[in-house]
Amino acid sequence: MGRGVADYKSKLVGTHPSIEALRKLIERVANSPARTVLIYGETGTGKGLVARMIHQASARAAREFVDINCAAIPASLLESELFGHERGAFTGAVERKLGLIEAANNGSVFLDEIRELDLPLQTKLLSLLDTQQFRRVGAVKPTTVDVRFIAATNKVLLSEVTAGKFREDLYYRLQVVALNLPALHERGDDVLTLAHYFITKYNAMYKRAISGMAPETEDIFMRYRWPGNVRELENLLERIFILEEDDVILPRHLPARILRSVAAGGVPLAPEGSAPAPEGSFREATEAFQRLIVAQALEAAEGNLQTAATRLGLSRHALRHQMIKLGLT
Ligand SMILES: Nc1ncnc2c1ncn2[C@@H]1O[C@H](COP(=O)(O)OP(=O)(O)OP(=O)(O)O)[C@@H](O)[C@H]1O
Ligand SMILES: [Mg+2]
Repeated sequence: MGRGVADYKSKLVGTHPSIEALRKLIERVANSPARTVLIYGETGTGKGLVARMIHQASARAAREFVDINCAAIPASLLESELFGHERGAFTGAVERKLGLIEAANNGSVFLDEIRELDLPLQTKLLSLLDTQQFRRVGAVKPTTVDVRFIAATNKVLLSEVTAGKFREDLYYRLQVVALNLPALHERGDDVLTLAHYFITKYNAMYKRAISGMAPETEDIFMRYRWPGNVRELENLLERIFILEEDDVILPRHLPARILRSVAAGGVPLAPEGSAPAPEGSFREATEAFQRLIVAQALEAAEGNLQTAATRLGLSRHALRHQMIKLGLT
């Protein structure tokens, strides 16, 4: 072991061709003169991680990386947070305050959830991108900065443009260098590589010696659609480290919603009861359905085999046999 948790902060794990290509692109973009980079990706796909990597691989690495979540700061405060203000610019502005953009001079500014920026701020940002100058709130004279903006969004920004909520010119400006982060279920067996990576991480953090996943667990991980992507996988594994004592990760450690979803064909299920019909051959579909009812019975019985067997009208032995056949042990 001997690895600090900090080592796990900025490593892009995975060997899927889409991830290899992304790694190259990060390197290229980092060393390019591009002043804006746009990162697209669903929730939990690693947008924050990639933004940090771009900064760290660039000549700006020794300077600040300022991380701003545009959705987390109220619109009324965001302008002065970003651009700073002069003394007396508004009630309560008793002193000049430098904004985050100025603090990141020669470094990078990460604008997470960029589509939350309101139209006046989009205008101010665009003008800064065009001129490398901006005015602090209440200032007469412009200030010059050299900053790279890395923006991220989890929705297709173009629909915001169509809806009139995002400036078209800013959109095209950001679009010049855009990176797409694939969803976890599109990365093949990187799911397992990432799982192993997090198992190593949490073994060190929680002083455990979990050796890995049972083959049935791996199978479920490969088939699940992971709506929360890498973050969902990581959180799920951490929860198992906290709650379970076994030294290998078994299907019964997984939340019932994942077992049910995989049983129903891997599509994340709507809450309770509305399972879509399983796809595939008759045998596959039947097995998927069996897996579903067995998993539900086990869940309802809180893992007690005898109770679950009684509920299903099976002997304990027959239930055991079914569980092995269905990969639920
Ligand atoms: N390829 C990867 N290798 C290692 N860790 C990863 C990878 N992708 C994501 N992670 C980790 O998964 C977690 C979620 O990633 P991150 O916060 O960057 O996602 P995000 O796209 O910014 O999500 P959100 O849209 O919810 O903000 C983080 O702990 C991150 O370090
Ligand atoms: Mg994020």
